[in-house]
Amino acid sequence: MPIIRCLTALEVLDSRGRPTVQATCELASGTRGTVSVPSGASTGAAEALELRDGDPARYRGLGCRTAVGHVNGPLNEALSGHDFDSQAVIDRAMLDLDGTPNKSRLGANAILAVSLAFARAVAAERGLPLYRHFASLLAAETGGPEDIAALPRPTVNLFSGGKHAGGQVEIQDVLIASKAATVEAAMAETYAVYQAAADLCRSRYGMRALVADEGGLAPDFPNVETMLDDAVAAIRNAGLAPGRDVALCIDVAASHFYADGRYHLAGEALTSGGMIDRIAVWLDRAPIVSVEDGLAEDDWENWPELRSRLAGRALVLGDDLLTTNPNRIRRAVDAGAADALLLKVNQIGTLTEAAEACRLARQAGWRVVVSARSGETEDDWLTDLAVGWGADALKVGSITRSERLAKWNRLLAIEAETGLPVVNWPG
Ligand code: PGA
Ligand code: ZN
Repeated sequence: MPIIRCLTALEVLDSRGRPTVQATCELASGTRGTVSVPSGASTGAAEALELRDGDPARYRGLGCRTAVGHVNGPLNEALSGHDFDSQAVIDRAMLDLDGTPNKSRLGANAILAVSLAFARAVAAERGLPLYRHFASLLAAETGGPEDIAALPRPTVNLFSGGKHAGGQVEIQDVLIASKAATVEAAMAETYAVYQAAADLCRSRYGMRALVADEGGLAPDFPNVETMLDDAVAAIRNAGLAPGRDVALCIDVAASHFYADGRYHLAGEALTSGGMIDRIAVWLDRAPIVSVEDGLAEDDWENWPELRSRLAGRALVLGDDLLTTNPNRIRRAVDAGAADALLLKVNQIGTLTEAAEACRLARQAGWRVVVSARSGETEDDWLTDLAVGWGADALKVGSITRSERLAKWNRLLAIEAETGLPVVNWPG
């Protein structure tokens, strides 16, 4: 039974240079687990609270000394010396200690760092690769088997817009999903498309290949349609067939251009019906197989219509809509509002609650996409989580910037170690 000897934390910096929390859990055996947590920029309103110091003189208020202090102080005092025979028990203890609905007292960044550091320490103590340990945590939640049947398919950011790229175009990501049979082959194809896109940015926009927050290219697209056309051209220029070899996924992140009941897109103010029509036009134009946050997080009543319009063509994936929150997922399942969950552990703040979110999505027959945040660190635990939880796809940004590559490289290593096939999606 793992007994915690002590918990410590440190303020470290993420890929935007902003502070975040790194926690270490030391067990009585001396085994340690250290984890850094990520942070979003286009966050959903229903996310658990990331505690920031709010001192404008230091990191523009974004310091994490208070959250770090909560690990070193109250969490360490309450949890050290105790024996936790499951992840659910330690996560429950932290929820009770926090006592708020959105983890605002101790901070979701402090709580999640401890939740994950404990998991990593226990995996090390048991001599298990982290992905195997995550598989057993999910099995404890679902009562299902611990086997891992396949690796998640990489979905890689090609073009960035929205909040990750200064808003030069409204939608946030155009991603590519190679249909190659292995991660290794998918990465080689992804590189070919990315380089073709970089060449295209140079010739069409006269622009050096500078990258946005998640490593995607971010030229000054005149509109979303051109962004999609350029992605299709890059696939062709790489010698691949759009749709057959490489599909596209988009993250519309529509909450961030929705105001007063309208979608403000390229000077127009679209109704929800107009926005759905526009997405359908994009699907006619480009081989899009997944649409994330096609509508705003509080436009609940129109999500079922979006889903029926895209049925059989593209997944309707909920990020800001669902915020990995079991209550919001239940509501979406009942309403028929989505057919895939974008799972970001820090939106909810503990591994146990994220496992419940994953279980609910699976019970509803949904696909699950495990996602990084736009503010990441060099830590790679996310890939182990995606593999252990049998995600259909992994979304960690592009193939530039080392905080992204840490995750892709971990996936390559797990593929080499396990020889598992990649999920057969999109077909
Ligand atoms: P975020 O963006 O981490 O800034 O929220 C990622 C996404 O929307 O998928
Ligand atoms: Zn998103």
